Amino acid sequence: MTKSYVKIESPKVDDYLRLRHVCGLRQRTREAAETGLMNSLYAVTLYNTEGCAIGMGRVVGDGGCNFEVVDIAVDPDYQGNGFGRLIVEHVMNYLESNVPLQSYVSLVANTPWLYEKFRFEPCAPKLTGMQLNQKFLANHSKPTPEGGAV
Ligand SMILES: CC(C)(COP(=O)(O)OP(=O)(O)OC[C@H]1O[C@@H](n2cnc3c(N)ncnc32)[C@H](O)[C@@H]1OP(=O)(O)O)[C@@H](O)C(=O)NCCC(=O)NCCS
Repeated sequence: MTKSYVKIESPKVDDYLRLRHVCGLRQRTREAAETGLMNSLYAVTLYNTEGCAIGMGRVVGDGGCNFEVVDIAVDPDYQGNGFGRLIVEHVMNYLESNVPLQSYVSLVANTPWLYEKFRFEPCAPKLTGMQLNQKFLANHSKPTPEGGAV
């Protein structure tokens, strides 16, 4: 396996935006990233031996009733080496130690095959995951210095 090390810390804003971009995840504004990263319940960042961030994962939520796993990503140059699994293992350790009985843990999966290994299961057909319409958000989000709304 390629050498790497994990830090239990939030990615830096630049690393977060870059990793989301290179991993094909929808972009966030810098302002949103600055606020969001500060408010993580839990975050891990994976670095290569040169200290460059190559992967990340976060848990957000209220810390009591609701938890959401987000931003699981590994730089494409490093995918297929077990790093995604390593990140999710850290997230699972956090959840196992911190989620009260009967609380709700969710995620929206591009890659269900990864999360199924950790006992996540589809909400459907009992429940339907829903998201706020992006056009609505574009028209109603507060303006940012860069003018981006999504
Ligand atoms: C999802 C992602 C983080 C996985 O990272 P990775 O480092 O390539 O994953 P790993 O090498 O640790 O593989 C994890 C497991 O998934 C399996 N796997 C990998 N690709 C797979 C595929 N396309 N289909 C099914 N299983 C797959 C691996 O065999 C491995 O199984 P094992 O641990 O039982 O041996 C990475 O592909 C990524 O960043 N994708 C883009 C961003 C994204 O979509 N993130 C998810 C948001 S929900």
